[in-house]
Amino acid sequence: MAKVAVIVPAAGSGQRFGAGRNKIFENVGGAAMFLKTLEAFTNRSDVCQTLLVVSSDDKDEVVERFGGHLGFLGVSIVNGGATRTQSVRNALERVCDEAELVCVHDAARPCVAQVWIDAVFDAAAKTGAALLALPIHGTIKRATDDSTVSETLQRDEYGNLWEAQTPQVFARDILVAAYAANTDATDDAALVENTGKPVTLVPGDARNIKITTTRDLAFANAVIKTLPKPTQLGQLHPFAD
Ligand code: C5P
Repeated sequence: MAKVAVIVPAAGSGQRFGAGRNKIFENVGGAAMFLKTLEAFTNRSDVCQTLLVVSSDDKDEVVERFGGHLGFLGVSIVNGGATRTQSVRNALERVCDEAELVCVHDAARPCVAQVWIDAVFDAAAKTGAALLALPIHGTIKRATDDSTVSETLQRDEYGNLWEAQTPQVFARDILVAAYAANTDATDDAALVENTGKPVTLVPGDARNIKITTTRDLAFANAVIKTLPKPTQLGQLHPFAD
């Protein structure tokens, strides 16, 4: 079983959420969002290290309110950067020697089930680079600034689109090389793609939502009760309808 270091970037400002504080402190499923996210990884036998990246604005609150819990979970705190890429880069420098794979999973995605983590860890162990993603089945329209349709994209032209999620998981040397290439991107897979390495798409689940707005928070609190349980491992295909 490949050992995995998990990086959880939580150092955004959460401005689009509009709560006046970082959304990571909002309650999801009975706990602060970032704790719920971390707990998906901390009791897995294949995870050898968990790094939580927090901004200087949030660090005192995280340490004072949650330091004991984080210590119990074995989570280390890393200082955030100005961009998500910089935040992950800071954590990558702290990954332990034991880790063969590095997993990056946004703190803003607390509704991640063990079976989906199993699937993307397995794919990364086989191919060196994998992410959860959702195939886009709908009709896609481009809009003008005043929210009228300017174009309906033709499926045969845009075909085969997927929406990236996290976890995104990589052989450690592949991710380190991608970050050394010094590019900037909105996700880690793009950095790896830029180095020419193939990246495997693992079909995800719409419940693994990234919380951006208060409506997303309501959705997350509804669906977190419906996630497939680890005890279903081996009984259900992880992406069965
Ligand atoms: O802003 P967005 O929700 O896309 O950010 C995705 C994740 O990256 C969030 O969990 C956020 O806290 C984190 N992030 C970070 N450092 C930044 C910006 C975002 O760790 N500078």
